[in-house]
Amino acid sequence: MNGINGFLGTRASLMLDVVFLAMFAIVPLLSLSLYCVKRRLRYGLHKRLQLGMAAILLVAVSLFELDMRLFTDWRARAAGSPYYSADGWSLVWASLTVHLGFAVPTLVLWIAVIALAWRRFPTPPRPASHSETHRVLGWLAAIGMTMTAATGWLFYWLAFAA
Ligand code: HEM
Repeated sequence: MNGINGFLGTRASLMLDVVFLAMFAIVPLLSLSLYCVKRRLRYGLHKRLQLGMAAILLVAVSLFELDMRLFTDWRARAAGSPYYSADGWSLVWASLTVHLGFAVPTLVLWIAVIALAWRRFPTPPRPASHSETHRVLGWLAAIGMTMTAATGWLFYWLAFAA
């Protein structure tokens, strides 16, 4: 096997397993953060949770990209899957395409939502003239992240667990 083997007992590499699990932390944290802002009006906690998630994702995704580019050939690890074909279109490739279709725009959106919120909300954070734009972009970013996680898990399962 190429790269370092993961710990979940599948064909995935260590960093694939780390990112797979990190997404299980992100989805509940995101729900908690939005609950804080909607029901309890705890804007400071919302801000800290969002920045915390962005930090986790930045580290995990950077290590993951390094691993994929330098150490791990995921195609070789997916070769044992009945849904993968080395020389043509397959369900694994289809799921990866859908996953990247969510992941790449969501990354750009998250950076934009944080940069705008950082500059346009007062400290400590509370509703301001930026609220309406932030609510629309924030919901798009949250839905994008949830879909990124769901499609990422599907790709992982098809490629490395099945
Ligand atoms: C990617 C990061 C973020 C996402 C996805 C996000 C998402 C959201 C969403 C969806 C809402 C609206 C909830 C509703 O429907 O009422 C919201 C509200 C809010 N967010 Fe964020 N947020 C992020 C980062 C931040 C940051 C960094 C700050 C502070 C600097 C912040 C401050 C606020 C405030 C003050 C509100 C309340 C706005 C209002 O209802 O008037 N957010 N956020």
